[in-house]
Amino acid sequence: MLLHGSPGTGKTTLCQGLAQKISIRLNRTYKRTKFIQIKTATLLSKFYSQSAKQVDEIFTAIGEICEEDPNQFICILIDEVECIASSRESSMHGEVQDSLRATNALLTGLDRTKDHVNIIILCTSNMPSCLDSAFLDRCGIKLAVDLPRPVVQYEILRGRLQSLIDNGHIMSRASLPPYRDARLELDTDDSLPGSKLLGIVALINTVNSSSPERISGRTLSQLPGKAVLRYLDNADCDLETAFRFMKRNILAENVQGIQKRGSEVKGSSQVQRESTDDPGQNEKTTMITSNDWDVDRVLAVLGAIESLVDAVFPGWKALKRQRDQNSDA
Ligand SMILES: Nc1ncnc2c1ncn2[C@@H]1O[C@H](COP(=O)(O)OP(=O)(O)O)[C@@H](O)[C@H]1O
Ligand SMILES: [Mg+2]
Repeated sequence: MLLHGSPGTGKTTLCQGLAQKISIRLNRTYKRTKFIQIKTATLLSKFYSQSAKQVDEIFTAIGEICEEDPNQFICILIDEVECIASSRESSMHGEVQDSLRATNALLTGLDRTKDHVNIIILCTSNMPSCLDSAFLDRCGIKLAVDLPRPVVQYEILRGRLQSLIDNGHIMSRASLPPYRDARLELDTDDSLPGSKLLGIVALINTVNSSSPERISGRTLSQLPGKAVLRYLDNADCDLETAFRFMKRNILAENVQGIQKRGSEVKGSSQVQRESTDDPGQNEKTTMITSNDWDVDRVLAVLGAIESLVDAVFPGWKALKRQRDQNSDA
């Protein structure tokens, strides 16, 4: 089975969860399940030039484990399989003989596992287009794992916030409702925690709508802890404060992204101008570009973001009013 998709979409985590489910489902037939995770990137960086030998030895060991106890089910996870399953056609043109031999060893190893019934091999890949066609042909199930949609974004944030609450990092007596309940609550009361978390999700999707990449599960899962760590200054943190920090973090990172993109634009205009004869003109160009991005443009973008959020999520207005009242007080 192959799970493929962008980095941080939860492929490795999903395989680990799947292994656990398999072990529960099969526990009438197999008393035990052994889960073995192979990190191919570490394997190859450690033993470069011996990749094929390493792959071969791993499959020999897997065969022995399968045979030693027929009451045991073996679940193998080959993470980032592209390291040892890269297309042999593209390898032929380069010097990467080692990678070619590793792919051959993987294919032979996979064929050898057919002798055993008590094994499943799960693979993940961030680069499915680089995978060898013979390897793809051997994958019985191929599934694309997409970047999280708003409902999943909400649930990832909810899970992380709840664990910060459970561990005492955020003080809250209220718990966060599942997505469906939060949607229902939003219609009646937009000051409830679930409604506010929906506001954060709306904000994330508004600021990311202009960016080429959507937000990954990994970035989302890090957001609550990162925001609290970044802005909390010795005081206790309640849920309200955590939401405020998260919004600040989302906007601050968006500004950093804009500045980074701005400096890339600035860099390219500088390169073009450097070919002119007038050095003074280069300086002037750089300064105008940098003023442009640092102040006016960033403020304009922030203003635009707020008005967009106003449009897509009316509860945001109430939140803003409340925040303004708090700061007046
Ligand atoms: N859909 C998701 N649901 C819950 N957590 C997720 C999801 N996607 C990513 N994560 C979190 O992001 C982190 C990175 O996920 P990982 O499984 O390593 O992604 P990948 O293998 O696709 O690069 C993990 O901590 C995981 O819990
Ligand atoms: Mg992974």
